[in-house]
Amino acid sequence: MNDFVFKENELYCEEVPVRHIASGVGTPFYLYSLATLKRHFNVFNESSKILDSIVCYSVKANSNIAILNFLFKMGWGADIVSGGELFRAIKAGVDTQKVVYSGVGKTESEIEFALKSDILMFNVESLPEVFLIDKVAGNLGKKARISFRINPNVDPKTHPYISTGLKQNKFGISIKHAFFAYEKSKELKNVDVAGLDCHIGSQLTEISPFNDAVTIIRDLLVKLTASGFDIKYLDLGGGLGITYENEIPPHPSTYMNSIKSILENYKGKVIFEPGRVIVGNSGIFVTKVVYNKDTGNKNFVIVDGGMNDLIRPALYEAYHEIIPVTKKSGPRIRADVVGPICESADFLGKDRLLSQVQEGDLLAVYGAGAYGFSMSSNYNSRPRVAEVLVDKDKYCVIRQRETYDDLIAKEFIPG
Ligand code: LLP
Repeated sequence: MNDFVFKENELYCEEVPVRHIASGVGTPFYLYSLATLKRHFNVFNESSKILDSIVCYSVKANSNIAILNFLFKMGWGADIVSGGELFRAIKAGVDTQKVVYSGVGKTESEIEFALKSDILMFNVESLPEVFLIDKVAGNLGKKARISFRINPNVDPKTHPYISTGLKQNKFGISIKHAFFAYEKSKELKNVDVAGLDCHIGSQLTEISPFNDAVTIIRDLLVKLTASGFDIKYLDLGGGLGITYENEIPPHPSTYMNSIKSILENYKGKVIFEPGRVIVGNSGIFVTKVVYNKDTGNKNFVIVDGGMNDLIRPALYEAYHEIIPVTKKSGPRIRADVVGPICESADFLGKDRLLSQVQEGDLLAVYGAGAYGFSMSSNYNSRPRVAEVLVDKDKYCVIRQRETYDDLIAKEFIPG
């Protein structure tokens, strides 16, 4: 069941007309359905139970503290990549013993913050990083639990910008040097080598790259175990894709079953870091038509939401379905749906067949719950938009629209 549904000709989020929310909060805004979020949570959570697992939601996908709080209350932990994400996760009530910290550029102060917060594990991406973690942990009189993130050189068959497990990517330690990194870390007094980690990319729509990566990781695990390493945590990252257009990604249970069959005799815990598959289709972006413009060459539907609000189309040429919030009959036009930003990459959709929308009409941009608001910016000095969460017949603003004052709140004119 979908929670963004048309009743008569009006789009509803659960029991609330989208138009009603737009008149309350203005446009543009992100709109999330709690029922969809719960459903996605349940599907992934149930599927993960066939393994002894910990699910650490990938905060970067959607980091609003209301969303985080919901997932943490349900018992999940967090996959973080910065001090800022750790701060958010803590404010949203995470159990820090379920926090894993990935990222190639962890700074000394971020490492210190994570150690003081007693996180579960650092997913270390280079030798210089593990040396720094060892030093900081020593200074604090602590022992840092670590895993190495291994780059297995597997093609995830996704957009190059969101591939992370190929040898040309900056992520992880190459599979060739992996064993050496583990051996080297034996010399470090303040780290406890307890895990093995891998994340090969995002929006994967096929199971085979996951299988290939997990097989490589399993083989390394066998070798490490034989050499006396006690690998208690196997972190397999995130990456499960979703349907934006007509992709048919593997179901979480297919994915888990496949992993289980590859891991065979492994007795430790498996960690998952899902992001998009949980929140992606739990949210839409709602924007208003400002002008219809016919250049003689092309039709443009100019809307009040732009690439600063939702950058995925501009950055990855990502497809997001765009549907008018009020269905209209009559002729359709082919048009580019574009924002107000001064960049030609500022589009939400290209060559879309749309009903003849009028100025003031609302458009829903689907699949915007992941990497939507969390990647938004103030470019062109546009205040960041509101975020709204619907629960049945009620809606709640979970982030207020920024004001012009917010834009300059941290700026100073010297002297
Ligand atoms: N774990 C690690 C270490 C990651 O780097 C990521 C995503 C995830 C988990 C979550 O992956 P997911 O389950 O969401 O696929 N901005 C891009 C996506 C970048 C993903 C970055 N890493 C987009 O809008 O498509």
